[in-house]
Amino acid sequence: MDFNLSEEQLMIQQAARDFAQNELLPEVIERDRDQKFPTEQVKKMGEMGLLGMMVDPKYGGAGMDSVSYVLAMEEIAKIDASAAVVMSVNNSLVCAGLEKFASEEQKVKYLTPLASGQVIGAFALSEPEAGSDATSQKTTAEDKGDYYLLNGIKNWITNGGTASYYIVIAQTDPEKKHKGINAFIVERGWEGFEIGLKEDKLGIRGSDTHSLIFNNVKVPKENRIGEDGFGFNFAMAVLNGGRIGIASQALGIASGAYELALKYAKTRKAFKTEIINHQAIAFKLADMATQITAARMLCFKAACEKDAGKDISESGAMAKLYASQVAMDTTIEAVQIHGGYGYVKEYHVERMMRDAKITQIYEGTSEIQKIVISRSISK
Ligand code: CAA
Repeated sequence: MDFNLSEEQLMIQQAARDFAQNELLPEVIERDRDQKFPTEQVKKMGEMGLLGMMVDPKYGGAGMDSVSYVLAMEEIAKIDASAAVVMSVNNSLVCAGLEKFASEEQKVKYLTPLASGQVIGAFALSEPEAGSDATSQKTTAEDKGDYYLLNGIKNWITNGGTASYYIVIAQTDPEKKHKGINAFIVERGWEGFEIGLKEDKLGIRGSDTHSLIFNNVKVPKENRIGEDGFGFNFAMAVLNGGRIGIASQALGIASGAYELALKYAKTRKAFKTEIINHQAIAFKLADMATQITAARMLCFKAACEKDAGKDISESGAMAKLYASQVAMDTTIEAVQIHGGYGYVKEYHVERMMRDAKITQIYEGTSEIQKIVISRSISK
């Protein structure tokens, strides 16, 4: 692992930092308050190449490496964790899965507009009764010859109300259990496909989370991804990479809160001195800085392993498990350091604390990450 960032990596980091400061920061409090999706900002992120960062330019992507992705995700999430999850899902769960496993026709038709940011995508695995226990899919895709008939409900789908294309996981042959599951590309607007309720969330309120309802939706056979029965393995492979995205989002939330807390501690005075001169505060900041650095290293390790084509189930799970805990701990302490100011919206850290919590839940809860890690180390 090389800790020296290249010119290109530093450039993308700076571009994402400038974009976040100039375009995301100005109305981030209002978007959180009003649950407003950052439509214009996401459009610009697409134009900057941030929505298909690692995709081959021949399919509309920016052709960058995964370390660049971690760097850019951190900068976006420092300021706006909602914009960061839109970016993570489109890059990791949608574009990466299509680039690796879709047919050439599917790549031309769907990956190209998604990677170039003309449209965004969503990944629909979770259901009302299948979250962590992802093999218990109740959504069915009945094989009808030249098409599948899709029926069921998906829950908590990021980009659910704004996506144009959805990767939907469904059970075709229950007797075969997870080997009977398939993944499909479904287009918004197809007959029988309805966007359900928007969730009113604790955090990442600028992101758009919906249920999806499928009522006899005809999905052409050519929209199945991979061989018959490949859907569950597809979802697991995609989620391994997705966990690097969410780990980087958590890292960004933590480092954003840390930077604000450090700045505040250097200026706020109590007992005749800046509060950073009180060991009780300085030690909190020391812990934050150490843990954030460790989280960043885990993200880089998983990203380097991904680019080297290695199995990233363990390193991706470790990065997400650790970085999401650091995001939670750091944001709680950042609110504490800010005292009464930390509890009001204007100082940003209360939003970051609310945003941090989801990183311990989606794309596999912390408990699921421990299952993945423990299975990997006991092989
Ligand atoms: N990488 C690759 N393959 C994996 C894998 C991994 N991390 N974990 C399991 N698999 C494969 C297994 O090898 C097995 O395949 P084969 O039969 O071909 O060998 C298959 O998956 C089934 O595995 P298990 O028997 O181990 O299945 P299980 O029922 O015990 O569950 C699990 C495994 C790891 C718990 C899995 O169900 C899981 O990851 N659950 C969490 C689901 C999740 O992360 N959901 C997030 C929703 S998406 C989201 O949040 C997006 C968003 O909007 C932000």
